[in-house]
Amino acid sequence: MKSGELRERFLKFFEEKGHKIVPSSSILPTDPSVLFTTAGMQQFKPYYLGEKSPYGKNVASCQKCFRTSDIEEVGDDSHLTFLEMLGNFSFGGYFKKEAIKMAYEFIFKELKLPVEDAVFTVFEGNGLVPEDEDKESIEIWKGLGILENQIKKCGKEDNFWGPTGEEGPCGPTTEIHIRGVEVWNLVFNEYYQDKDKKLTPLEQKGVDTGMGLERLAMAVQEKKNVFETDLFEPILEEIPDSDEKSRRIIADHIKGAVFLISEGILPSNVERGYVLRRVLRRAMRYGKLLNLSENFLIPIVKKVIEFYGDVYPELKSKENEILTVIQKEEEKFGKTLGEGLKQFNDFVLRRKPKNGKVGVAFDQLILYGREAFYLYQTFGFPKEIMQELCQEKNIKFDENGFEEEMKKHQEISRAGAEKKFVGGLADHSEKTIKYHTAAHLMLAALREVLGLEIYQKGSNITAERLRFDFNYPQKLNEEQTSKIEDLVNEKIKEDLEVVCEEMTLKEAKGKGAMGVFEEKYGDKVKVYSIGDFSKEICGGPHVKRTSELGRFKIQKEESSGAGVRRIRAMLE
Ligand code: SER
Repeated sequence: MKSGELRERFLKFFEEKGHKIVPSSSILPTDPSVLFTTAGMQQFKPYYLGEKSPYGKNVASCQKCFRTSDIEEVGDDSHLTFLEMLGNFSFGGYFKKEAIKMAYEFIFKELKLPVEDAVFTVFEGNGLVPEDEDKESIEIWKGLGILENQIKKCGKEDNFWGPTGEEGPCGPTTEIHIRGVEVWNLVFNEYYQDKDKKLTPLEQKGVDTGMGLERLAMAVQEKKNVFETDLFEPILEEIPDSDEKSRRIIADHIKGAVFLISEGILPSNVERGYVLRRVLRRAMRYGKLLNLSENFLIPIVKKVIEFYGDVYPELKSKENEILTVIQKEEEKFGKTLGEGLKQFNDFVLRRKPKNGKVGVAFDQLILYGREAFYLYQTFGFPKEIMQELCQEKNIKFDENGFEEEMKKHQEISRAGAEKKFVGGLADHSEKTIKYHTAAHLMLAALREVLGLEIYQKGSNITAERLRFDFNYPQKLNEEQTSKIEDLVNEKIKEDLEVVCEEMTLKEAKGKGAMGVFEEKYGDKVKVYSIGDFSKEICGGPHVKRTSELGRFKIQKEESSGAGVRRIRAMLE
């Protein structure tokens, strides 16, 4: 049975059992405390806490997920960064009995997997949580004919689901393992875990289940690992037959990268953009190990888009953008990767004992912080790649030294920037302040027109004009520029009030305020809001109302480095 059929059969099964089928939400969640959607329940989080679900009490979905927690394990038989999660969910509808029965029926009756090959884990209780051994689940499994020796009791690590992000619903779980691999996780949400990890019983109990499509396909298709399933085979065919682990890592990471870019993320050195850069560069590094030619990623990318395009049409509609972004990153890193690897070896080999003379023992080899920083700055080696290289070759990575170099560098460049511009402003003249407010309006307009992944890369504001850098892979077309211009002018006309509030950085992030360089901020930050249109962490100053600005005009749009565009604009 192919994965496409499994996806459909799962959703149909639960639809027939009274569940509303909800489409996958974005891989970029609205919850500010998580970078990516890592579980099917993410989009339903509020409904466990009593907010009314617009879909009713029982729902099912197939959710695009991205996880970095298992990135080191990718390459083994079952771990992935990108995965599709099948799940059924209930918010105050049914609980353990129904959830376990339905899972049993789907796996062993509908799909006819051999029940004698299955193991069922349940929470053993350990006094740490106000919950004892999950006897109820044990009894339900037994009632379905599961034998005592097929039921395994496990602790909090395995059978207690913690919330996604800083807080949220959580509770004990029971899992179905088939031929040694965890396939389905059934979570019984009974508690709310707050930021201090304190548990409070939830008024309304809930069910949250998650089953990776890839692992289910592996069990159904009787494969030894997820990479032999039809979800990977066509993609792996694009990668030359050689070191298996490298091929797997490349296939997984490119899949993940394609989905991330389809949602507007671009490679950068912060947050989501950094994760994207890291998986792309990691894939390239493994390609290097296989001696693959430059540009080897493109056919793989095309295959991923072709394979998933029908189920996830956003891949097809963004195909050009995805290809451009990956090609650019490949060119950028490809050029320096070989040279960087050579340098890395030089750094380390220099210290090897020569001619059998007793020198440094092999396990004392070290990559010093300043060397690592040089590789990072000059060749774009992410820290994690250097750590991996070191681990592979049994070399110590001087992490503290590297962090120190990073800090030193940041301080130097900040001092340089602050001399010229106070927070991007040349002075605090009336005209400059107007341009400053216009810059905030423009960033909000850019995000509305080009996508929420746009952020500020830098600004330079004088009494004559504003100059503003932001991430975007291509030249803006005329339609985009005039849309941005119109939107800013519209907001100027609306005569919106500019309001300044002080709060902690955490609160500001919680409110969705945009910020540029996190490390620059102290405990308390100022947040400037312009109506509902813009919200930014910023030192100010700004005008009182947008009508003071006059007419906004974009004069020039040009490249300002790879993946960065620069706009020069004026107020007339
Ligand atoms: N949230 C749980 C998981 O992702 C069940 O869906 O495993």
